[in-house]
Amino acid sequence: MKTKVAIIGAGPSGLLLGQLLHMAGIDNVIIERQSGEYVLGRIRAGVLEQGMVDLMREAGVSERMDVEGLVHDGIELVFGGRRDRIDLKALTGGSSVLVYGQTEVTRDLMAAREASGATTIYEASNVQLHDVKGEAPYVTFEKNGETYRLDCDYVAGCDGFHGVSRKTIPAEVLTHYERVYPFGWLGMLSDTPPVNHELIYAHHERGFVLCSQRSMTRSRYYLQVALSEKVEDWSDERFWQELKTRLPQDVAARVVTGPSLEKSIAPLRSYVVEPMQYGKLFLVGDAAHIVPPTGAKGLNLAASDVSTLYRILNRVYRDGRTDLLENYSQIALRRVWKAERFSWLMTNLLHEYSERDAFDKRMQRTDYDYYMTSNAVLKTIAENYVGLPYEPIE
Ligand code: APR
Ligand code: PHB
Repeated sequence: MKTKVAIIGAGPSGLLLGQLLHMAGIDNVIIERQSGEYVLGRIRAGVLEQGMVDLMREAGVSERMDVEGLVHDGIELVFGGRRDRIDLKALTGGSSVLVYGQTEVTRDLMAAREASGATTIYEASNVQLHDVKGEAPYVTFEKNGETYRLDCDYVAGCDGFHGVSRKTIPAEVLTHYERVYPFGWLGMLSDTPPVNHELIYAHHERGFVLCSQRSMTRSRYYLQVALSEKVEDWSDERFWQELKTRLPQDVAARVVTGPSLEKSIAPLRSYVVEPMQYGKLFLVGDAAHIVPPTGAKGLNLAASDVSTLYRILNRVYRDGRTDLLENYSQIALRRVWKAERFSWLMTNLLHEYSERDAFDKRMQRTDYDYYMTSNAVLKTIAENYVGLPYEPIE
């Protein structure tokens, strides 16, 4: 087999890049370790920045998102008896975010890919990248007991944090930056109307809570939990009870409970690898960086990487501008680090750190008080939440 761009991984990064390249007439093949159903079964975040929304439109996959996505002009924050609305629209001069689940984004991208006739190989095992530093890279993989070889011009490593692409790069070339937080998020999805028309991010002494949503009839809630917690120990009743305990009373009184559709615990981590490219291999999305979910940035950062790589590859194939390839990592990393900063800041601000002493806890509360009464800081929070601009490729 031969193609121009071999894409490793059919998560949102790989599928979106594949679709954009396909629309531009650039042949590509996606190789995914899991089945399509498995990929769709993973429940992830659901807040899209304008840049990602625009990219979905450019990729021709926005039809359902434009109908079903919910425009949110603000978010609410809660800390120590204060409840503050961040008016995203007013503070940014007109920007907002779109609430539309990553599962739906992935479903729409998969449907578009199937309709386009482009090749996606699911359930490929033992995927290996070869000669990515040389002139003629290729990918090998196994499927149904047979070994295949895919020759290509470039490889896009869209295979997430545990993928093979980053591991292919020699260790001495890479620098890793990491922060592991001493807690996780227990998430729950339920077919109940959301407690509020906007998202609520709330600090409580028992731990952080997030009230999110997927639609007017489907809620997504998260509780900060210790890393030692097991999901089996959280019955639906216990989850709802704990959620209500941590929310302001008037909000708790409005929570509509119901059976859970899914519950899972995810650890919180900040991670960046530099550089994001090695020869003809380019890392995209979670393969190169992870953010804690408090800023809703994971999927959106994947989208800005995709946008940068797509625009560069487009110029390479259209105008022979191979000189632009070397800029990918630097352009992507500048935006990655700013989103890392915002996600880290929001995490530190809103979670309960049991190991913090009394002085540090007062500082945390004072940070919150100051931020909510400073128009300058509110603007900063709002402009980061709706998403910083994408950099041009030259
Ligand atoms: N070979 C082929 N595919 C692989 C391999 C491998 N060795 N390892 C992992 N994959 C696949 C995974 O099965 C998965 O489908 O790569 C895909 C990576 O998808 P994601 O982990 O969703 O990563 P990405 O597409 O970059 O999505 C951005 O940001 O914060 C997150 O929740 C957000 O998942 C979203 C992500
Ligand atoms: C979600 O809906 O899953 C979600 C929303 C906002 C976040 C994190 C997760 O910051």
